[in-house]
Amino acid sequence: MAGAEFFGADERKEVNEVLDTGILFRYGFDDARKGMFKAKELEAEAVKFTGAKHAHAVSSGSTAVTTALAAAGIGLGDEVIVTPFTFVATIEAVMLIGALPVFAEVDETLCLSAEGIKAVLTPKTKGICLVHMCGAAADMDAIMPIVNDNNLTLVEDAGQALGAFHKGTSVGLFGKTGCFSFDFFKITTAGEGGLCITNDEVAYNHMAEYSDHGHTHTGDNRGMEAHNIMGTNFRLSETNAAIGKVQMQRIETIRTNNKKHKAVLKNALAEIDGVTFRHMPDPEGDSATFLNFFMPTTELSQKVMAQFAEDGIAGFNYWYTNMYHFINQWDHIKDLKSPNKLAIHHFGAPQDYHALELPKSNEVVGRLISLGIKANWPADELEAFKTKMVASIKKVLA
Ligand SMILES: Cc1ncc(COP(=O)(O)O)c(C=O)c1O
Repeated sequence: MAGAEFFGADERKEVNEVLDTGILFRYGFDDARKGMFKAKELEAEAVKFTGAKHAHAVSSGSTAVTTALAAAGIGLGDEVIVTPFTFVATIEAVMLIGALPVFAEVDETLCLSAEGIKAVLTPKTKGICLVHMCGAAADMDAIMPIVNDNNLTLVEDAGQALGAFHKGTSVGLFGKTGCFSFDFFKITTAGEGGLCITNDEVAYNHMAEYSDHGHTHTGDNRGMEAHNIMGTNFRLSETNAAIGKVQMQRIETIRTNNKKHKAVLKNALAEIDGVTFRHMPDPEGDSATFLNFFMPTTELSQKVMAQFAEDGIAGFNYWYTNMYHFINQWDHIKDLKSPNKLAIHHFGAPQDYHALELPKSNEVVGRLISLGIKANWPADELEAFKTKMVASIKKVLA
């Protein structure tokens, strides 16, 4: 949790302003809304924070991935390299848009590695949907040459990484399009919501149009403007946008607090022989929403998790057996289960998903333990948590 910890009077005030006008729709009604365009204001905050030329808010992180893929021109039958370690939303978006996921290896960055990408590249590869996992950027210095040399379309799913930068550039701005989630568990929340960013004006127009049935949002009479493309309804409501706007104004504070609290815990773990950390190509750019550390073996990580449970310490994720975040739990995806026929049923999967060999990803995610950092952590509670966490790990290693 991060943004949700700070929900308060400012969020309530902004929501009440929307409720007072009664205009919950982001477009039109110019007189009745009394100058309030909360979705637009949220987008302006996101532009200011990320440095993107354009931002477009949508209804969720999941619809943001879909919108970002569509606006980047990825669609029917396109082979897209994806990670086996992400929230399933990434893979669902690729499949539902008609593209074909090709799984590659992650490494200790917790993201796709350059080697992993190279190993699955074929002349059929159209692009990469790169996930910046657990709050920090992938190794962009190693990945961008592969993107450029092979003329690939890069879409960044930064659903978990708003607030992360790589050498001064926000995640989401390395490729054609990028996206974030504002769901309840993220660094800033709108309750539900998402955001796409890009420096490409054509892609931006496509994001805005695709997520609202192709409306170009020009002229006074919404509904009767030109429609350049087909789309759907992924619009964000003004009440959610009002919350998201205030939360975006809090992000610098949240990130600063996260970093402070994470450092306290990381320094304590660094004293323990055998504990190592997620490789971060640019540690300065960390959003610090997670402290990610490795035990020497999968077995030891599972023992540490069991010890945490026995000692009553909460807040840790063990993604290896979490049903949403790692491929070893995605039987429904491997089986291509869907109520309707998808492109992948028609074209066939580009890999045998049941026979995939991802030894590096299994080894990395098996050893990984992630702790969600609280931004509002009282100093005494943080200190007590640190002491208990260290004691639990030491018990296992003794
Ligand atoms: C990497 C990633 N992409 C997309 C999403 C989907 O976001 P939402 O829950 O807002 O739909 C998530 C959610 O956790 C995520 O972690």
